Amino acid sequence: MEFKKPYIILSAAMTIDGKIATKTGDPELSDEQDWREVHKLRSTVDAIMVGKGTILKDNPKLHIKFYEHKGYFRIVVDSNLSIPIDSKVIDFQPETYPTIICTTENAPTEKIKEFEAIKIKIIRSGKGEKVDIVKLMPFLYDLGIKTILLEGGGTLNWSFIKNNLVDEMRITIAPWIVGGKDAISLVEGEGFEKMVQATRLKLIDVVNRDNYVILKYKK
Ligand SMILES: NC(=O)c1ccc[n+]([C@@H]2O[C@H](COP(=O)([O-])OP(=O)(O)OC[C@H]3O[C@@H](n4cnc5c(N)ncnc54)[C@H](OP(=O)(O)O)[C@@H]3O)[C@@H](O)[C@H]2O)c1
Repeated sequence: MEFKKPYIILSAAMTIDGKIATKTGDPELSDEQDWREVHKLRSTVDAIMVGKGTILKDNPKLHIKFYEHKGYFRIVVDSNLSIPIDSKVIDFQPETYPTIICTTENAPTEKIKEFEAIKIKIIRSGKGEKVDIVKLMPFLYDLGIKTILLEGGGTLNWSFIKNNLVDEMRITIAPWIVGGKDAISLVEGEGFEKMVQATRLKLIDVVNRDNYVILKYKK
């Protein structure tokens, strides 16, 4: 049977040494031009998805600042429904950017009611410790979400890479090195054991601008 899934574009900005934030969680890597390009890309998708860690650390609005657009879904992956209800991803312009929280069967019923009362859509996917993102894909597809911009962080990126769900990648490399074994990398998780297992992508575009490099890959 055909597996219905949205087309997944992983987007991130990282340092030369592959870090998407410093060891203290400072994520300020992009210049204005890069933000403009990312916002342009946001304007072409049906949804932006991030993990709970990104909500807790950055509290992003996940909106579009620079262009006219029709809006899209914001999707948060949160196993126990524990993000603050006043996070910007919930509060900021919900008419333009409705929010979906993907959680597990373990999420407390009271919490679900609290979020649903303010019109947040809750999807429960899986009974395990983490959200079952493979099972989640057809649900999102059936909601009309055919393209998702996956904006991290590193832990959620790994789950998508491990399950071979990423179709395309757009990576900005800032000409900086921050180091730190505790600084979050583009892809975290347990990683593959052998190079032969690595996800292999095809380089489709390279842009060199103001010392930044923008790389585009496809499956
Ligand atoms: N430079 C960039 O482009 C960029 C972009 C985005 C984020 N960031 C940075 O990345 C950092 C956050 O990354 P992070 O790795 O800590 O967190 P994350 O990937 O944003 O979120 C991971 C969390 O999501 C929840 N989750 C639920 N189901 C999951 C599943 N199946 N797979 C993976 N995660 C699942 C888990 O928490 P629960 O189990 O508790 O729910 C998990 O710990 C921040 O510092 C942020 O600034 C940088």
